[in-house]
Amino acid sequence: MKKVRVKLGINSYDIHIGRGLLRQTGRRLKEIGFSDKLVIITDPTVRRLYGTTLKESLTSSGFKVAILEVAEGEEQKSLETAGQLYHELTDGYAERNTPVLALGGGVIGDLTGFVAATYLRGVPLIQIPTTLLAQVDSSIGGKVAVNHGSLKNKIGAFYQPRLVISDITTLETLTAGELSDGLAETIKYGVIRDEALFSYLEENIDRIKALDESTLETIVSRSAKIKAEVVAKDERDFGLRNILNYGHTVGHAIESVSDFKVRHGEAVAIGMLAAARISNELGMLDKNELIRLKNVIGRAGLPTEVPDLQRARLIPAIKHDKKIFQGKIRFVLPKSIGDVFVSEEVSPSLIEQVLLNWN
Ligand SMILES: NC(=O)c1ccc[n+]([C@@H]2O[C@H](COP(=O)([O-])OP(=O)(O)OC[C@H]3O[C@@H](n4cnc5c(N)ncnc54)[C@H](O)[C@@H]3O)[C@@H](O)[C@H]2O)c1
Ligand SMILES: [Zn+2]
Repeated sequence: MKKVRVKLGINSYDIHIGRGLLRQTGRRLKEIGFSDKLVIITDPTVRRLYGTTLKESLTSSGFKVAILEVAEGEEQKSLETAGQLYHELTDGYAERNTPVLALGGGVIGDLTGFVAATYLRGVPLIQIPTTLLAQVDSSIGGKVAVNHGSLKNKIGAFYQPRLVISDITTLETLTAGELSDGLAETIKYGVIRDEALFSYLEENIDRIKALDESTLETIVSRSAKIKAEVVAKDERDFGLRNILNYGHTVGHAIESVSDFKVRHGEAVAIGMLAAARISNELGMLDKNELIRLKNVIGRAGLPTEVPDLQRARLIPAIKHDKKIFQGKIRFVLPKSIGDVFVSEEVSPSLIEQVLLNWN
């Protein structure tokens, strides 16, 4: 088992990463001072797979447990679903000190986090992420949100959990697509801050795809450590946290132009390559590093070609998504693997050139 501390003064918390941790959740929650009742929020798939194990761990430690279920899918990240959950929490007599446990992927984590941040002006939140993406990214850092109309992830708060429990064993039931979505973010951490993690991915990608638990534990804990460090330095997203957007400027545009048919990790993979190509064009990133990135992305089961969509629509989508500063778009560019910087100097025409002349 590995522990990563997110250092945020009185809001600091630990991330526990290891195998079979669901079975120990009751004990771990007692250790940090909880007792009495609590509420689990989850979706039907995750409940079927892991609900009983978690519940048994909690009841055997003396907790009274209620489980609330929401349907699957991004559309559940809504004020409407949050509203239903407030009713159910009230009906279940959830009080200000009743912890709420988010058991599931990023959708459950963001929605439950939003509900925990707002119900009774805040009840304790425990993240129990069960997808690779949620373990390396969404459960850490306290961004909780729902969507509202065209405002994606924009109705929310910064609300830190009290504890994150990442049980590696839960990753065994993910589809290959869900695994590679999370891998895209892990590759991102290597490029932005940790060359050694990137090399580790190059060497171990086959073990990861074969769901080798000790390799997964290593990449989850190293990714979590990087996210924790970045968040600790810039909790409210005024500076350093920007680097976590590496690959996401073009990535978000691809997701939206494809009407979300291209998955997040696939879109970010292309976005990371696009930023790397831009950096190479600007004379910074070495061609060999670009090739290393392309190879690792391909071996992770992610695309290395721009998907078949109306590429001409990408530039307007990027402009729409991002603040434009004096005609230039803000971009996170790699200088080398393990080192990035934020550039305000990328012109739309250079982005266009890279995207339209991919081959
Ligand atoms: N808050 C943040 O900082 C942050 C960061 C990145 C992404 N996000 C959000 O995360 C969401 C995406 O999260 P996601 O990729 O985890 O998708 P998801 O939450 O939609 O989960 C994907 C699917 O996997 C299933 N699932 C979950 N765990 C499983 C398991 N162990 N075995 C089998 N199936 C399992 C779920 O039932 C669901 O159908 C988006 O809404 C995104 O906006 C938030
Ligand atoms: Zn992402």
